[in-house]
Amino acid sequence: MAGSSPRRSEALALCFLVFLLVLPGVSGCGGTLTAPSGGPVTSPNYPANYGNSLNCEWLITVPAGSTIRLTFDSFDVEQDYDFLRIYDGDSASAAVLQELTGPQSVSPIVSTSNVMLLRFTSDNSEARQGFNFSYTSNNTYGMKK
Ligand SMILES: *[C@@H]1O[C@H](CO)[C@@H](O)[C@H](O)[C@H]1NC(C)=O
Ligand SMILES: *[C@@H]1O[C@H](CO)[C@@H](O)[C@H](O)[C@H]1NC(C)=O
Repeated sequence: MAGSSPRRSEALALCFLVFLLVLPGVSGCGGTLTAPSGGPVTSPNYPANYGNSLNCEWLITVPAGSTIRLTFDSFDVEQDYDFLRIYDGDSASAAVLQELTGPQSVSPIVSTSNVMLLRFTSDNSEARQGFNFSYTSNNTYGMKK
C-alpha cells in the first residue's frame, strides 16, 4: 500500500529534526562532570570569544552527601543577552542559584546537594571571552592527594 510512504518521510523528517536539536550538544559544548573536583572548565573557544546561538549544559555530580563549590577565574558574557544560569539540582526546573550576565567578578557559588546544572546560552549576535571555572566538593574521601 502507498499509504506507508508519507509516514516514512514524516519519520525521516522527525529524525532529521532531532539530529539538528542534538547536534549543538554534541559539538563539544558542555559536558558531564563526575569527579569530586574538576576544572578548569571553559566556555567554547576560551580565551577567544564563544560563538553565537549556543546552548551548553554542564552537569556536575559529586558523591552523595557532598556539596559543590564553584569558583570562577574569569567571567564576561554579553550583558543581558547571554547568560549562565546555575541550578541547584539536575535540571532547569531546580531552583536557580545564580543567573550571571555581563562582565563580573563572581563569588564562589555553593550547591545544597551533590548535583548542579550549569546552562550557558548566547543569542545570535555579539560574543565575549566567556568564562573559566573550577569546582570542588567537600568529599575528602574521594579526593586524590
Ligand atoms: C558537606 O557540606 C554539607 C553542608 O555543610 C554537609 O551537610 C555535608 O555533611 C558535608 N559532607 C561531607 C562529606 O563533608
Ligand atoms: C583558567 O584559569 C586558570 C587560573 O587562572 C588558568 O590557569 C587556566 O589556564 C585557565 N584555563 C584556560 C583554558 O585558559
